[in-house]
Amino acid sequence: MSSRLWHEVDSYITDTLVQPDAALEAALEASDAAGLPQINVSPAHGKLLWLLARLQNARRILEVGTLGGYSTIWLARGLAAGGRLITLEALEKHAAVARSNLERAGVSKVVDVRVGQALTTLPTVKDGPFDLTFIDADKQSNAEYFTWALKLSRPGSLIVVDNVVRAGAVVDARSRDAAVQGVRRLNQLMAAERRVAATALQTVGAKGYDGFAIALVLE
Ligand code: SAH
Ligand code: DHB
Ligand code: MG
Repeated sequence: MSSRLWHEVDSYITDTLVQPDAALEAALEASDAAGLPQINVSPAHGKLLWLLARLQNARRILEVGTLGGYSTIWLARGLAAGGRLITLEALEKHAAVARSNLERAGVSKVVDVRVGQALTTLPTVKDGPFDLTFIDADKQSNAEYFTWALKLSRPGSLIVVDNVVRAGAVVDARSRDAAVQGVRRLNQLMAAERRVAATALQTVGAKGYDGFAIALVLE
């Protein structure tokens, strides 16, 4: 199976099922123009985040790792009426691009972009419990972010983690890649944590071969 085919099918899915949206496209263009890395979720996966927010009837969403706010826009648009989203970003440069993208998308009033290392800002987040948390920052800290997400959850909350397959590198227990070890520690933690039920989905498409972990908070 070729990656060219993954791209073709991803384009087909996006063209067929994901409505074109000027603000989302402009967010990617502005992020590109500002030199941000193109590591945002794909349109089809952005729509998955939106669907999960809708399924959760989410009034509070937490995101770790904003970049230019592409996933943030999808999630913010999935908020229920009166809902709010907090997104944590280490780099002021990324946060500035995100704020401008969020403004253009008309969601800046419901989104709070907080700048700083997430392990520093997470202890200051008092706005929980969150109905949905999306973890998508530095992968070596995934387990710590998950622990915070769980602390800031309620029974029925959903925790979604991006990039848990890493082109298959996740199966290498002896990998020296800190991101791979971060994902493996996350999986061990989710497996051992009786308060959550979790699984992971492998994905292919415009962003290559990767995956999402999805955990439901049970109690
Ligand atoms: N969720 C975005 C992509 C995020 S990319 C989207 O799909 O559109 C990962 C982001 O996490 C980058 O902007 C990076 O600067 C940020 N990041 C990396 N380490 C971080 C940390 N320790 N705390 C907070 N953000 C961090
Ligand atoms: C990387 C980070 C991401 O969040 C992503 O979706 C893809 C790649 C990275 O750091 O390489
Ligand atoms: Mg990601």
